[in-house]
Amino acid sequence: MTTNDNERPKAPHPVMIILRTITETKQHLLPVRSKGATIGFVPTMGALHEGHLTLIRKARNATDHVVASIFVNPIQFNNPEDLLKYPREEESDIHKLKEAGCDMVFLPSVEEMYPVPDSTVFDFGQLDKVMEGKFRPGHFNGVAIVVKKLFEIIEPDQAFFGEKDFQQVTIIQDMVRQLHMAVRIVACETVREADGLAMSSRNKRLTPEERAIAPAIHRILSGAVRLRRSRSVRQVKEWVQKEFQKVPAFTLEYFEIVNADTLVPVEKWTAGDRIVGCVAAYLGKIRLIDNIEFI
Ligand code: PAF
Repeated sequence: MTTNDNERPKAPHPVMIILRTITETKQHLLPVRSKGATIGFVPTMGALHEGHLTLIRKARNATDHVVASIFVNPIQFNNPEDLLKYPREEESDIHKLKEAGCDMVFLPSVEEMYPVPDSTVFDFGQLDKVMEGKFRPGHFNGVAIVVKKLFEIIEPDQAFFGEKDFQQVTIIQDMVRQLHMAVRIVACETVREADGLAMSSRNKRLTPEERAIAPAIHRILSGAVRLRRSRSVRQVKEWVQKEFQKVPAFTLEYFEIVNADTLVPVEKWTAGDRIVGCVAAYLGKIRLIDNIEFI
């Protein structure tokens, strides 16, 4: 589900509108929509890196009016220290969005988004019972609440998400289906540093020593894919666990091999099924996630 980058090349907009309230944002988008322009949306929590900017460029090529949001959503953090330490870089984020060709950025406060607590409880069945959902209870409910609110405010035609957060994309697709929302979810390939490390706002919090070790995550995942032809699913999982144990700085939280559509852990390689390996590991205090398709 990716768009062709060459579809509609456009020049970046010279002016980017910055809005902080829901009312102003809706007022700004009303004439855009009534002119028949399509809206592409990139929701973010800021601390923007090349991965986010790639999503903005994809939105720019696929739609007429590109909106980004920057909102560190408190209700998706199950670790208060993580929320407190989440990098906030508003000024440089705004600059990067302008350069990437964004037309409007929505920068709400917590009070603007949650004037009263939102107690919606979603049912994602199996999708949030494994991996991130299992180790970060309540996380995906918090993500779904904020993404639903953002979709209701922006009413995008297409919304762009990075596949690094593979389970998040699957859950948002499920939410859109459940709520019959008229938005196309575009899943975009993970953007990596030259050494293979998946780009993430959390990478900024790694020490230089940790940063030098971090690419081992992608190296191990790539090694696991190479073993698919010769080893069983159980053997590949054991191999990955051993590889992480060889690097004492890592604490592996989980490595799962799941069906890409249902997120149900698989027990054997089945031809024709899309199968993905997903990992979460602590490097010192920083929790990193990544994934790879078994092709
Ligand atoms: O992936 C993220 O940055 C966040 O989970 C999202 C989708 C912006 C919701 O807060």
